Amino acid sequence: MRAILNLNKDQIISEIDPRIYGSFIEHLGRAVYGGIYEPGHETADDCGFRGDVMGLIKDLNVPIVRYPGGNFVSGYNWEDGTGDRSKRPKRMELAWASIETNEVGIDEFQEWAKRAGTEVMMAVNLGTRGTAEAQAVVEYCNSETPTVYADRRRANGFEKPFGIRVWCLGNEMDGEWQIGHKTAEEYARAAHEAGKVMKWTDPSIELVVCGSSNPGMPTFGTWEHTVLTECYDIADYISLHSYYNNYADDTADFLARSMEMDRFIKQTAAICDTVKAERKSDKTVNLSFDEWNVWFHSSSQDKKIDRWQVAPPLLEDVYTFEDALLVGALLNTLIKNSDRVKMACLAQLVNVIAPIMTETGGKAWAQTIYYPFLFASRYGRGTALACSVNCDSYKVHDFDAVPYVDTSAVLSEDGKTLAVFAVNRSGKEQADFSICAEGFGALTLKKHIALESDDLKAVNTAEKETVAPVEKAIGDTVTLAPYSYNVLLFDIA
Ligand code: AHR
Repeated sequence: MRAILNLNKDQIISEIDPRIYGSFIEHLGRAVYGGIYEPGHETADDCGFRGDVMGLIKDLNVPIVRYPGGNFVSGYNWEDGTGDRSKRPKRMELAWASIETNEVGIDEFQEWAKRAGTEVMMAVNLGTRGTAEAQAVVEYCNSETPTVYADRRRANGFEKPFGIRVWCLGNEMDGEWQIGHKTAEEYARAAHEAGKVMKWTDPSIELVVCGSSNPGMPTFGTWEHTVLTECYDIADYISLHSYYNNYADDTADFLARSMEMDRFIKQTAAICDTVKAERKSDKTVNLSFDEWNVWFHSSSQDKKIDRWQVAPPLLEDVYTFEDALLVGALLNTLIKNSDRVKMACLAQLVNVIAPIMTETGGKAWAQTIYYPFLFASRYGRGTALACSVNCDSYKVHDFDAVPYVDTSAVLSEDGKTLAVFAVNRSGKEQADFSICAEGFGALTLKKHIALESDDLKAVNTAEKETVAPVEKAIGDTVTLAPYSYNVLLFDIA
């Protein structure tokens, strides 16, 4: 099969906000305890943060990490994770039927974030709590006033505010599974009032209102319209969440799911702009795709895990090579929608549906999906360019024409490199790849990195990295192997 990528240097989608390469740490399973934090571990630092995990995260160069949930946040008392650790309560954590020790809270997490070189995206509890607590936590984290919560932070040893810029107003409040689930009208009022006083407390913060938990929710669309109509003045972003599965074991259909992500983004942006027009506003509300990933491998094993344990091994999906291909295509979709998606979080970061796995007391390693995320984060910063590919396509249930080769293209910040990310969705045919580019001068391929495997179900383990990137020899032609993820780096003369 031939695949010709058409590009024009002047056809720009957007400057990419690096925060599209964000991730997520929830108090869920072994994400925190046994994941980023394990004081007894041989690589632990003076705060108990695992150095091996930190190293893998630093390589990913994640600019923002959402915290502390997720479903967890809707029953959370942020005060539990502050101050004297010997006095912190152990709680029944209802979202995941676990025991939360509160050994780690915002006091520790903001320190971890500093050490990891990342920013915190903080979520407030609008499930069991409301305006007063949301105001208090912003004051605790960000204020320099001589007032009760800022004083409490200082008394806890933090003279300087944490300076948390991005705040999520609750989590998945449209879902019946959420503690304190709300109708769109109930949520819209709660979010508006909480957001209003949070911005009064710190006018520099940015707020994310909850959109739908996934595009299949019966309320998708009307929920966004109601929430944005009520919250337009205080909202900077609306959230999108979506997880993709391959329960049907249908590779062609699974690899086409990035088109579903694309449709979800475009529909949500259209609703934002409808409300903008209805309100005759100059302000644009952008998108925060703050939970996305593949999630399904662990669902049956999770049903066997006993309730009320500390850090049970929940949601520990072991990712395949096939999953890495879809994650590559999902990243392409985020890049191609970077005019509207300004933040996105690969959910999650460690152990819980994550690119990084650990053994408590043992090794840490990169799952298959680590690699497309690493390369997009490393080479996908700068300007996203519009690109179209001439190649064969195939039909699945939801989409009539799924191109076999899925791409995105990014001009580096210094203008010297063009990065092309390409997934070959065909298992039968290699793609003979070429570029028809305008406005670049000479383009010289200097590096071709690929993730390839004969086995779609290949996985990485603590013992063996079966799926790892390889550097391909550069010749006169460029070939994308059947079922492959590719990074092509061109020098621009
Ligand atoms: O990321 C796991 C869970 O998925 C989150 O807690 C929730 O927001 C979503 O349903």
